[in-house]
Amino acid sequence: MSFVFRTVPHVIFETGASARLGAIVKSRMTRPVIVTDKGIVSAGLLDAALDSLKAEGLDFHLFDGIEADPPARVVRNSVEVARGRMADGVIGFGGGSSMDTAKIIAVLLNSSQSLEDIYGTGNIKGARAPLALIPTTSGTGSEVTDIAVVTSDDDQKIGVLGDQMFADIAILDPELTYGLPRHVTAATGVDAMVHAIEAYTNRYKKNPVSDALAREALKLLSSNIVEACENPSNGDARANMLLGAMLAGQAFTNSPVGAVHGMAYPLGALFHIPHGLSNSLMLEPVLRFNAPAASHHYAELGDVIGANATGGYAERCEAFIDGLMEIVAATGVERRLSKLGVSHNDLPRMAEDAMKAERVMRNNPRDVSYDDALKMYGEVL
Ligand SMILES: NC(=O)c1ccc[n+]([C@@H]2O[C@H](COP(=O)([O-])OP(=O)(O)OC[C@H]3O[C@@H](n4cnc5c(N)ncnc54)[C@H](O)[C@@H]3O)[C@@H](O)[C@H]2O)c1
Ligand SMILES: [Fe+2]
Repeated sequence: MSFVFRTVPHVIFETGASARLGAIVKSRMTRPVIVTDKGIVSAGLLDAALDSLKAEGLDFHLFDGIEADPPARVVRNSVEVARGRMADGVIGFGGGSSMDTAKIIAVLLNSSQSLEDIYGTGNIKGARAPLALIPTTSGTGSEVTDIAVVTSDDDQKIGVLGDQMFADIAILDPELTYGLPRHVTAATGVDAMVHAIEAYTNRYKKNPVSDALAREALKLLSSNIVEACENPSNGDARANMLLGAMLAGQAFTNSPVGAVHGMAYPLGALFHIPHGLSNSLMLEPVLRFNAPAASHHYAELGDVIGANATGGYAERCEAFIDGLMEIVAATGVERRLSKLGVSHNDLPRMAEDAMKAERVMRNNPRDVSYDDALKMYGEVL
């Protein structure tokens, strides 16, 4: 056996932790830029955190210009804002869009590289500025991953990957997620489940540490997602979702995602369908497509979600997919592309773009051709 496992060196998981953000980061930065979006600010999620930065005398700048599935122009502008403010550290506060942009700002702040120079894997040169990440969705796990996802100028979802993308510290405060609207809880929670499932079936990088994290993540997420949707202020359910999303993030960073993500990317890039929702839509067709190649792994995950099936791999795999889709259906997440503005004529372009997502498609347990992709999109139209 041989594998590599990497993660963020310092994690704080504590209800109310964001109210002492200043004390936590002050040894690392004095002029931080806080990277977030307007939805987070208007939900009042930053109030206690900003008070604590003031109380510690930090000379911070609040930048709330992040857009979902961050477009390259927004990311470039964010870097310029941080430079203009002479920031000496970056705090990403929000969902994956804010945290991913924060990572790139930290990398480019003192660098001569352009955003395009660092697209792909291992292209970042030199060290980055100090970086703290605080998630407000229980979804991407970006607070512990080594990747940021940007929407390029030609509408492709591009990954930026490298060791520098691991934050110095991840601060997880379940209280920040109590006010997540139901549809966001559902979609981002399904995204996190997909991270666990796809990490578990990666063709090349599957490893025992990621496997253990993925199983625990899927157990926590699958048993709490419906409760978190129905009783949003249930603190235990919210904490379990946030923990599950982080564990799934640690798993997939070391055993990356596959065709659910690859097929979901064109939905985000072309139609601005939120990332979690895109994954929720593509989950069932891809799992059923993968079943012949991954039935033994899906059978094991069936035990994790309590599908409790007996019989051979094929029956237990079927029970896993059915059980998982029941949970997804109970969250109320939308399941049809045509309800989200996608028409039959769009499917060829989507299938073409899915083929371009080679970085993730290659990890899938079964090869996906253009015709396979077209068929799978058709199944959820
Ligand atoms: N870096 C990674 O490892 C990784 C992994 C998966 C996905 N991603 C990327 O992350 C992005 C998606 O991130 P996301 O799903 O977390 O969503 P997001 O950051 O795009 O946010 C979605 C919406 O939810 C709102 N929101 C967030 N937290 C809230 C809260 N607590 N209360 C009320 N509203 C809240 C935001 O204001 C925003 O309108 C995509 O670009 C995706 O490609 C990154
Ligand atoms: Fe994802």
